Amino acid sequence: MARILVNNSGPLHGEVDISGAKNSVLPLLAATLMTEDICEIEDVPDLADVSVMKKILRKYGAEIDDSEQGIIRARTPKIISCEGDRDLVTEMRASLFTMGPMLARHGKIIMPMPGGCTIGKRPIDLHLKGFRALGAKVEEDIENETVTVETGPDGLQGDVIYLDFPSVGATENILMAATLAKGTTIIENAAKEPEIIDLANLLNKMGARIKSAGTDMIRIEGVGSLSGCIHQAIPDRIETGTFMLAAAITRGEVLIKNALPGHVRPIIAKLKECNVDIDIYPEGIYVDARGKELVATDIKTLPFPGFPTDIQSPFMAFLTTVKGKSVVRETVFENRFMHVVELNRMGADIQTENREAIVPGGRKLHGAKVRATDLRAGAAMVLAGLVATGTTEISEIYHIERGYEDFVGKFKALGADIMKIDD
Ligand code: UD1
Repeated sequence: MARILVNNSGPLHGEVDISGAKNSVLPLLAATLMTEDICEIEDVPDLADVSVMKKILRKYGAEIDDSEQGIIRARTPKIISCEGDRDLVTEMRASLFTMGPMLARHGKIIMPMPGGCTIGKRPIDLHLKGFRALGAKVEEDIENETVTVETGPDGLQGDVIYLDFPSVGATENILMAATLAKGTTIIENAAKEPEIIDLANLLNKMGARIKSAGTDMIRIEGVGSLSGCIHQAIPDRIETGTFMLAAAITRGEVLIKNALPGHVRPIIAKLKECNVDIDIYPEGIYVDARGKELVATDIKTLPFPGFPTDIQSPFMAFLTTVKGKSVVRETVFENRFMHVVELNRMGADIQTENREAIVPGGRKLHGAKVRATDLRAGAAMVLAGLVATGTTEISEIYHIERGYEDFVGKFKALGADIMKIDD
């Protein structure tokens, strides 16, 4: 099993380029199923999750040209299957994003229940509620862990859909399905994440009529068909936050290029509360934590524009090193503290109760054998390893490779003592 070894590295210095956003690219790729024309997606990161999505699309009938680095040209002249492959779907929860497009284009999708990071139950009831509201028939086969969604003879019909929680995936799926529905759809209490706006921008380029994506009420006027387009994915705000924290935890200074400050405002705000200097330049976000006494702050994760749940674990690793006690509250996912056990192996002494973690701060972490229990927890382990004494050995790093492009290479370029070993 491949592992990452990290040694105490001292302050990181230099510049890092942020890749295209994984969480945008996956739904963008799924949306290409909705036309028979070529769609070109640019700034596609080289990630395991993207490879899985390419395989999934090919099974449905997509022809994919990925010969040019960072660019995927996808064309689906005809849907050849409407059944999700169980192995691929189990590998990646984002395979769910193909449900809306398949329903809209083909009228039917049979989906095995999805996998992905093990962070709580992660039901799909809101996705299904949306499809039902658009007039689709939903049959859940609990025994075989499969759900079949099918439109009637007249296809999908627009409606008003209220989401009980502003789920990112449900908003994206309903947005895609409603694009080709008859009449008007309104998604109330929609997710407002930048990835939703990116998807709406792609769909509008393809001929959709979507208004107010990025607010909590999205309006979609259905259109008869979509065409091809060229679209560049937004930069990855979670990778941006991770490298901001890499500068902070090592008390270094890093210029984070190709980053959009507007997408990481809560991370900027919280790091500033800890006394980290952050400046915004045209080239990127400059984070400087040299020679400062950094102090504790409390974190509460929320849907965008609140503090992102995906940065909770890397931020917690950072908080173990500052002066004073911090409280971290996770409100988005029910079981997103698995990294606590791993950080505690390194001497963090974090206590959890339900969705709250008390981080004592001021800890001298020591290297240990730890697991990347999920994608972002893996990033947290790398950050902790940079400041721990001795060597930190991280296993299950396939989680990290699912979502961070050239993670080890980018850290090395900043001066980190890090390597990947395959055996
Ligand atoms: C997306 C991101 C993930 C991020 C999350 C929250 C992708 C590929 N992944 O995941 O990195 O952590 O947003 O910002 O974009 N829920 C339900 N019923 C549903 C759907 C969701 O109860 O039908 C709940 C989930 O269990 C969870 C919460 O809503 O507690 C948020 O989930 P959601 O916003 O849907 O996250 P994802 O789209 O899965």
